Amino acid sequence: MTQVMETMQLEFSEKLSAIDNSKALNELRVEYLGKKGKVTGLMKEMKNLSNEERPAYGQKVNELRNTIEGQIAELEAELSKKALEEKLAAETIDVTLPGRTLEIGGSNPIDRIVEDIEDFFIGLGYEIKEGYEVEQDYYNFEALNLPKSHPARDMQDSFYISEDILLRTHTSPVQARTLEAQKGEGPVKIICPGKVYRRDSDDATHSHQFTQIEGLVVDKNIRLSDLKGTLELFAKEIFGSEREVRLRPSYFPFTEPSVEVDISCFKCKGSGCNVCKQTGWIEILGAGMVHPNVLEMAGFDSKEYSGFAFGMGPDRVAMLKYGIEDIRHLYTNDLRFIDQFIPTEDGGEQ
Ligand code: DAH
Repeated sequence: MTQVMETMQLEFSEKLSAIDNSKALNELRVEYLGKKGKVTGLMKEMKNLSNEERPAYGQKVNELRNTIEGQIAELEAELSKKALEEKLAAETIDVTLPGRTLEIGGSNPIDRIVEDIEDFFIGLGYEIKEGYEVEQDYYNFEALNLPKSHPARDMQDSFYISEDILLRTHTSPVQARTLEAQKGEGPVKIICPGKVYRRDSDDATHSHQFTQIEGLVVDKNIRLSDLKGTLELFAKEIFGSEREVRLRPSYFPFTEPSVEVDISCFKCKGSGCNVCKQTGWIEILGAGMVHPNVLEMAGFDSKEYSGFAFGMGPDRVAMLKYGIEDIRHLYTNDLRFIDQFIPTEDGGEQ
């Protein structure tokens, strides 16, 4: 090697020993081996040499290039090994840490009650039907024998979207729609759960939004005794095998006769307590025989067909069953409330 080359080699080695990252190494590679690099520069000197000098000179420059390339490759391998080690050290997994547990949420007590009730009626061969929360005045009122001027509309003051469209005030419009779709042909056996709305002051027992479950059976020879038998079975299934049912005369425009249905108190078993307000009975739903006008308006022959219907509020059932004092707890989605209803493995609740 010439003196110049030796100096270059020494200088390179010195610079290389100070390098600790691949970016700087690359810069050094360009400085020596790049197109305008120092070693490449030595090659360009060849043109100033005589023909005899050239081969030996060229060989020396090549040797220098090979040495430098070798040194670079060595450091490169060392750096990438170091980088991998650092990465592995930084990403160590501590297998002794506790795992992340999946949180189990509670389900809203209304959903539970609705599901229990649905299961019971599905077992009796009913079909689940869902209607529309935004409903036409016709199905919400008129087709249920509640014409425009009917005073009973007052009890269900609503949120109107337009003159003829409103948020449904009960689940009964599903009755009217289902009957209409049957085109006068029975049987019909449905259960319709869903949200309903009324313009009401919000307090511990009233909410502008609540839940209802509607039931409807229409066929030939359906009688009030069928309604009573069905509700007795229902009461025993949902509230306990010792429950009894009592029917009291009532009034709904869409049923005739109409009844209010009470069950014997599940807490005191009829002797009187705070749940049943000392009466021994709890009112749980309204019901009756489908009014002939409702059947006729939907296209059924009321001389051939009859039916029963009922409507109940699972909110009230949930409140009574779980001792919930304020209906608003059911609708505010406060997890401190809902988490009290986390299911246990045996299917019950905590
Ligand atoms: N729709 C009634 C209400 O919201 C509840 C009801 C009562 C439904 C009697 C019925 C029924 O189907 O027969 O007050």
